[in-house]
Amino acid sequence: MALDYAALRAAYQEHFAGQPRVFRAPGRVNLIGEHTDYNEGYVFPVAMDREVCFCVRPRDDRRIRLVALDLERAEEEFSLDALAWTPAGYWTNYVKAMAKAFEEAGYPCCGFEGVVAGDVPIAGGVSSSSAFTVAAATAFERLAGIDVDENQLILLTQVAENSATGLRGGIMDQFTARRGKRDHALLIDCRSMEYELVPMPPVTIVVIDTKRPRELATTAYNIRRAEGEEGAAVVARTVPGVKALRDVTSAQLEARRGDMLDTVYKRSRHVVTENARVLECVKVLKAGDLRGLGQLVTESHVSLRDDYKVSCDELDVVVALAWDTPGVYGARMVGAGFGGCAIALCDEAAVPALQARIAAEYPRRCGLTAEVYATRAGNGAGEVG
Ligand code: GLA
Repeated sequence: MALDYAALRAAYQEHFAGQPRVFRAPGRVNLIGEHTDYNEGYVFPVAMDREVCFCVRPRDDRRIRLVALDLERAEEEFSLDALAWTPAGYWTNYVKAMAKAFEEAGYPCCGFEGVVAGDVPIAGGVSSSSAFTVAAATAFERLAGIDVDENQLILLTQVAENSATGLRGGIMDQFTARRGKRDHALLIDCRSMEYELVPMPPVTIVVIDTKRPRELATTAYNIRRAEGEEGAAVVARTVPGVKALRDVTSAQLEARRGDMLDTVYKRSRHVVTENARVLECVKVLKAGDLRGLGQLVTESHVSLRDDYKVSCDELDVVVALAWDTPGVYGARMVGAGFGGCAIALCDEAAVPALQARIAAEYPRRCGLTAEVYATRAGNGAGEVG
């Protein structure tokens, strides 16, 4: 799936003149490795085949003028020299925050004008915000000729997105949106920022959007982050070299269990076991062991639900329905949690049965209608030719 670029360019011509360029960035689906990135651990996501596009041309007066096609053609204009912040999460904040991050790091931006549109579900747990921020970063980078190291660019998009949302998010989403590769998953070491592209086996990734809004997610996310830091600090008192939960083994954590709050212990246990699951998952995936893959994904959900406590009834219901559908290898919630999406890994032939199952049971049990769609690993950000 890709956006209709001809329609995008036609919409541009309705509002602007001249020849635009199209910059794109995808959303992401994480196979496994949830809430490990900000604990300096491992993640194993794919870029999706859904994206956000900026169809724009540069301006020489340092002004930005944008029309959001998906927001009833809402139009905004501002100067890069007078950035005023609108309420948290407002779409232009991501563009402003991106320009600010570049310029504070010494990379001058330029103005541009055009239309933005996407098919990444907004607030659907597949990081439409990173797709948007990384697409904006790519537009600034290419239009202003910003020559910046790739990892630094990713770190700057993280700074920008965190400041636009107030979430102390990790690096996974921006990294994936930038570096994703078609039909590959990315094993990312979130400490060193080294990564490996691992070919995807013949398994279908189904996204199950619960449509449950992610209320309180930012506050709860930031609390989880602080709890992980606390768990690592307790272990560090006796184990030299521990800087983050990434450095902690299960045995070391068990040994200090009595010295920390039970909540901190459980949150830490999730992170420590999840890091191990990621590395194991890469092994089984390379061996083509789809059952082993599904088992690990399912264990990840149980750990997120019981130890990390970031699931919710709606996610648990759709995940259990998926577990119970023939042809599904495993399923779990993805992203920050408290609503949003789950994924199921299954045979392609199982998709209709899974969709039917969720359509029949989820509304009755949760009073909401889920959106269930297959996706595949797509490419990271770039310019559309
Ligand atoms: C959000 C954050 C990511 C990551 C996930 C949880 O998507 O933006 O950095 O922490 O939650 O794994």
